[in-house]
Amino acid sequence: MVRLLPSFVVLSAVVSNAIAQSQYLLGLGIADITGPVVETNMMGYASLGQTDSGLHMRQRARVWIIGETATTANRVVFVNADIAMGDTGIRRAILAGLAGKYGTLYTAQNVAISSTHQHSGVGGYLENLLPQITSLGFVEQTYDAIVTGVLLAIDRAHNSLAPGSLSIGNTSVVGGNINRSPTAYLANPADERAMYVDEGGDQDKVMSLLSFGSRGFLSWFPVHGTSIYENNTLVSSDNKGMAAYLYESSMEPNAMPGNQTFVAGFAQANVGDTSPNTLGAFCESPGQPYDGMPCQANTSTCGGTVEDCHGRGPGFTLDSFGFHSNEMIAQIQVDAAKSLMSQTLSPISGTVRSVHVYLDMATHNFTLPNGTTVNTCPAAMGFSFAGGTTDGPGSFDFVQGDNSTSQNPLWEIVKSFITPIPSAEQVACQYPKPILLNTGYATLPYAWSPSTVDIQMLKVGNLVMLIIPGELTTMAGRRIRNAVRAQLIADGILDNSAYVVVSGPANTYAHYITTREEYSVQRYEGASTIFGPCAFHSLSKPTSTNTPASSPSSRTRPPARPNRTPLPPELQSDAISLQTPVVFDAAPIGKSFGQVLIDVAKTPYSVNQTVSAQFVGANPRNNLRLEGTFLSVDHLVNNAWTPVRSDSHPSTTYQWTRVSTILGTSSVNVNWTIEAGTPAGTYRLRYFGDSKPLIGSISAFTGTSGNFTVA
Ligand SMILES: *[C@@H]1O[C@H](CO)[C@@H](O)[C@H](O)[C@H]1NC(C)=O
Ligand SMILES: *[C@@H]1O[C@H](CO)[C@@H](O)[C@H](O)[C@H]1NC(C)=O
Ligand SMILES: *[C@@H]1O[C@H](CO)[C@@H](O)[C@H](O)[C@H]1NC(C)=O
Ligand SMILES: *[C@@H]1O[C@H](CO)[C@@H](O)[C@H](O)[C@H]1NC(C)=O
Ligand SMILES: *[C@@H]1O[C@H](CO)[C@@H](O)[C@H](O)[C@H]1NC(C)=O
Ligand SMILES: *[C@@H]1O[C@H](CO)[C@@H](O)[C@H](O)[C@H]1NC(C)=O
Ligand SMILES: *[C@@H]1O[C@H](CO)[C@@H](O)[C@H](O)[C@H]1NC(C)=O
Ligand SMILES: *[C@@H]1O[C@H](CO)[C@@H](O)[C@H](O)[C@H]1NC(C)=O
Ligand SMILES: *[C@@H]1O[C@H](CO)[C@@H](O)[C@H](O)[C@H]1NC(C)=O
Ligand SMILES: *[C@@H]1O[C@H](CO)[C@@H](O)[C@H](O)[C@H]1NC(C)=O
Repeated sequence: MVRLLPSFVVLSAVVSNAIAQSQYLLGLGIADITGPVVETNMMGYASLGQTDSGLHMRQRARVWIIGETATTANRVVFVNADIAMGDTGIRRAILAGLAGKYGTLYTAQNVAISSTHQHSGVGGYLENLLPQITSLGFVEQTYDAIVTGVLLAIDRAHNSLAPGSLSIGNTSVVGGNINRSPTAYLANPADERAMYVDEGGDQDKVMSLLSFGSRGFLSWFPVHGTSIYENNTLVSSDNKGMAAYLYESSMEPNAMPGNQTFVAGFAQANVGDTSPNTLGAFCESPGQPYDGMPCQANTSTCGGTVEDCHGRGPGFTLDSFGFHSNEMIAQIQVDAAKSLMSQTLSPISGTVRSVHVYLDMATHNFTLPNGTTVNTCPAAMGFSFAGGTTDGPGSFDFVQGDNSTSQNPLWEIVKSFITPIPSAEQVACQYPKPILLNTGYATLPYAWSPSTVDIQMLKVGNLVMLIIPGELTTMAGRRIRNAVRAQLIADGILDNSAYVVVSGPANTYAHYITTREEYSVQRYEGASTIFGPCAFHSLSKPTSTNTPASSPSSRTRPPARPNRTPLPPELQSDAISLQTPVVFDAAPIGKSFGQVLIDVAKTPYSVNQTVSAQFVGANPRNNLRLEGTFLSVDHLVNNAWTPVRSDSHPSTTYQWTRVSTILGTSSVNVNWTIEAGTPAGTYRLRYFGDSKPLIGSISAFTGTSGNFTVA
C-alpha cells in the first residue's frame, strides 16, 4: 500500500501534537489580483482565441493565517488565489516580498499558495513555456497583479491577527460535480472502488470545512473551475470565486465585493477528473445525426473528433456562456458551507507546524513497497493532452498538424526549438503514454515544463493540509489522504481525530497526477500526468532514504532540499513576451474620453432588465485599478449619489471594444442587470477610465450616463 511523502516523515521526526492548544492566533485577509482585462489571453483552456475583452468579476486572493498563541514562529499561511494554478515564479516573488517585510516569519516552509483552478482569469503569469504559448509569452502585468495582491492579502491577514478557536466538519454536496473521465476511474481495483460507493463512487462528494467562527471559514471541495465556457471573454472567477462572493455578500450585503471583513474560502481539492458540467457531455454538431446526443464515452468524441463534445452545466439552457451554470454550482457550494457553519463542528486542537521540500521529479528513483525499483520520468505530454477535455476540447492550437503556418506568433518563434524526439529510455519510462510533447527535454528557449516541484504540508492541530503541486484525481486524492492519515496515527503523531485534506494545484504547476491504473487508460488526465506512471507513487514513496535523525527541538527546521534537489530555476529573465504595450488612446474627433455615445433609455427600468450605456473609452491596460473599479452604479439617496454596485458585482459587466488601432479609439459598454430587491429610485452609471496620450503621462477620466429610474 501507499506510504508517506518524505516530508511527512520529516515532520513526524520533529513534531508531536502533545502541547494542548485550542486557542490560536487567527488572521484573515482578501485583496484584488486582477490582471489586464483586455487584449490578454485567458488562463485555463489554453485557447488562443480566448482573449479577454472586459470584466465580469474581479479575481481575488484570500488568506488565512493560523499561529500558536505562544510561539510566533509556529505559524502557517494558506493563500487561496482565484487563479488557474500555482506557479514557481509567482511563489518566488511572493516569498521574496515576505522576506523583505517579515524576515523569517513567513517562508517557503509555511506559506502555501493554492489556486481555485478557475479557467476564466487573466493569463500569461506562469513561468514555464508550455502554458505561455497561447498567451503569447509572459505577461508581466498579470504576474505583478497577482504578486502584489497576494502580498496585500497576507498583510491584511497579518494585521488582523487575533486569538480565536477553530473547528472542522464535513458534509456531502449533492449535484456539485461529476467525474469527466469515469472510464479511467473504472481502471482502479474493484475492491478499492467498492469502498467508496456510499461516498459518491467515481466522484468525491465531501466538502470539508475549517470554521474560523464569526470571521470566516476555509473549505475544500473538488470541482473544476470550468463552469464558464471557453467562448466567454469577460474575466471572471468561475464557481469558487462566485461562491466566495455569494457567501461574503450574504454576510455583509452593503459592502462592496472584496471589501467584506468575513472571508469565505472555497479551496480546490482532488480536482483532476472532476467537472461542474453535471448534465454530462453532448455533441454540438449542427447538421449531424449525432447532434445533441451524448459523446462517445471512452474517447469523448463526436463523429470521431473531440471538437464538438461539450460538457453541460445545470443552467445550460439559460445562457450561452455558462454564467447561470456557474452561479448554480457556486450556490450549491455556498449552501453546503452555510449548513456546516450553522452546526457545532469538532474543535481543532494541537500544535501548528509545516514542512516543505523540493522534489526533482525528472530523476526520482525509489523502491516500491513490494521491492521493485521504479523511477519518475522527465516531463512529457501524451497525445490525449492535445485532445483536451469535455470541459474545453481540443485546446492547444499548435497541434493541428500544419507545421508551416500558424496564427500564433509565439509558436512561430518556438517551433524551431520543438521538443526533442523522445529517447527509447523516455518512451519506456512514460509507457504506455504515447509522447506528443517531450517537454522535460525541452529547455530552449527556456524550460517548457517544471522538473522540480514543491511538496508541502501544513498541520494545524489535528488537521493536516497536503499542498499538492498538481491536479490529483478523485482516487489519487483519496489514496494519499488515507495513507497520510494512517501513517500519522501509526507514528503516534495524531490520534483518531486526525483529519487530512488535499489542496491544489498549488505552489507549482505539475499538471495532473492520476493513479497508476488510471494512467494506463491515457485519457486527458493520464496523458497530462507528466512525470510518468509512477508519479503518484513518488509522492507517496517509502520513507527510509529521507528520514533524518530525530531533532532535539520542535523548532528545528527539517532540511528543505533532501538529496540537494536543485532549486527550481528562475526563468523570467529569459521570458519571451509578445504582447504589445498600449501605444496610445484617442477620442474620436469632436468627442472626449468618457463622453456618452449611447445613453441609457429614458423609460423606467424594472427587475431583470439590463441598463446599458456606451462611452468613449480608453485601454484599461493603462491602469488595472486594483482594489478599485472600472464602473459604478450610483443611487441617488438624499440628493447624494451613492455607489451601490462595482465591476465585481455579477450583475454588472464592463466590456471594452477597440474601434480603430490606427486612430487609437475604443468604446466601453457598462451594463447592469437589475436584481430583485433593488430599491426603486433614481440611478446612473459611471465609467472610470485612464487614457494614454502619444506623448505624456496616463490620466484618469470619468464618464457619467444620464439619470434613469428603477420602478
Ligand atoms: C467527515 O467527517 C467524519 C467525522 O469526523 C469523518 O469520520 C470522515 O472521515 C470525514 N470524511 C472525510 C472525507 O474526511
Ligand atoms: C471598504 O470598507 C471600509 C471600512 O468599512 C470603508 O471605509 C471603505 O470606504 C470601503 N471601500 C469601498 C470601496 O467600499
Ligand atoms: C470502453 O472502455 C471499456 C472499458 O475499458 C471497454 O470495455 C469498452 O469496450 C470500450 N468501448 C469502446 C467503444 O471502445
Ligand atoms: C459557447 O459554448 C457553449 C458550449 O460549447 C455553446 O453551447 C454555446 O452555444 C457557445 N455560445 C456561443 C455564443 O458561441
Ligand atoms: C534512475 O533510474 C534510471 C533508470 O533505472 C537511471 O537511468 C538513472 O540514472 C537513475 N537516476 C538516478 C539519479 O539515480
Ligand atoms: C510491484 O508493484 C508494481 C506497481 O504496482 C508492479 O508493476 C510490479 O510488477 C510489482 N513487482 C513485483 C515484484 O510484484
Ligand atoms: C512539416 O514540414 C515539413 C517541411 O516543410 C514537411 O516535410 C512535413 O510534411 C510537414 N509536416 C506536417 C505534419 O505538415
Ligand atoms: C427575474 O428572473 C428570475 C430568474 O430568471 C425569475 O425567477 C424572476 O421571477 C424574475 N423576476 C421578475 C420580476 O420578472
Ligand atoms: C451590454 O448591453 C449591450 C446593449 O444592450 C449589449 O449589446 C451587450 O451585448 C451587453 N454586454 C454584455 C456583456 O452583456
Ligand atoms: C440627474 O440627477 C441629478 C441629481 O438629482 C441632477 O442634479 C441632474 O440634473 C440630473 N440630470 C439630468 C440630466 O436630469
